[in-house]
Amino acid sequence: MRKKIKKAVIPAAGLGTRFLPATKAIPKEMLPIVDIPTIQYIVQEAVDSGIEEILVITNSNKHCMENHFDRSYELEKRLKKAGKREECEQICEIADMAKLYYVRQKEPKGLGHAILCAKSFIGNEPFAVLLGDDVVINKGGDPALKQLMDTYEQVNASVIGVHTVPHEQIYRYGVIEPTGRRSGKKIKLSNLVEKPKVKDAPSDMAIVGRYILTPEIFEALEGSRPGANGEIQLTDAIQQLMISQVIYACEFQGEWYDVGDKFGYIRATINQALEREELYEPLRDYIKKLAAELK
Ligand code: G1P
Repeated sequence: MRKKIKKAVIPAAGLGTRFLPATKAIPKEMLPIVDIPTIQYIVQEAVDSGIEEILVITNSNKHCMENHFDRSYELEKRLKKAGKREECEQICEIADMAKLYYVRQKEPKGLGHAILCAKSFIGNEPFAVLLGDDVVINKGGDPALKQLMDTYEQVNASVIGVHTVPHEQIYRYGVIEPTGRRSGKKIKLSNLVEKPKVKDAPSDMAIVGRYILTPEIFEALEGSRPGANGEIQLTDAIQQLMISQVIYACEFQGEWYDVGDKFGYIRATINQALEREELYEPLRDYIKKLAAELK
């Protein structure tokens, strides 16, 4: 029988080496897009998709992430005293966003190993995975994860979020090989591979950090050997799962920002700033001025 997706896992134990020196003391998940930490966008997407419980995989350097989603009585007291009611409500709401749980990945052995740390939290249910490096904004439409959950409801099998990227950038991602059977956003897979060379890539469809996985993935992960970059790769375990289960991809709607990449992060910051009423006009005018000056 098909089970409803209620739990999500957010792996957030990466070292953030692409953003050094900023990430020397600050987790990359806490880097703000305008004034909201990236992980808050991810948690919001999960909540808006109907997820009830979220497990965040952390490491020993990520305390401030837990603080962010906790109450801060001292700050609340000071804000109240200063008459800053709106700010006070805003920080209280963050603490009430979702039921968050934390577990530490003790060694940086890769994304697959991080997901394996969620085994006892998940139990025997299908679950969602959202990667913090991928922020997806679908203005006015369903969040990316909800679109994957709807696809799961139709196919009752694991579903991976994908997006077409320029051919020369495909080596940076996990890549799917479609069977050619496609209906709307839904694509049946024949294979997938982690970070292939551009010339070997089976398509230009990159795996974006959104997954619905069946619990059998844990068995596959336990049997996984280190793959690309010497790490236990989630993509390899999904490939293993394909021996016994059908896997689908969902080419979701929405603007995808790879915020683990500097350009993706800057793009997200500019676009989200343009969404703010108070920032739109000054930023628009500044961009126009800059564009006229740039060659
Ligand atoms: C991870 C996954 C990869 C996926 C990517 C999306 O890679 O392993 O399959 O395409 O996220 O952001 P990472 O970015 O951790 O190297």
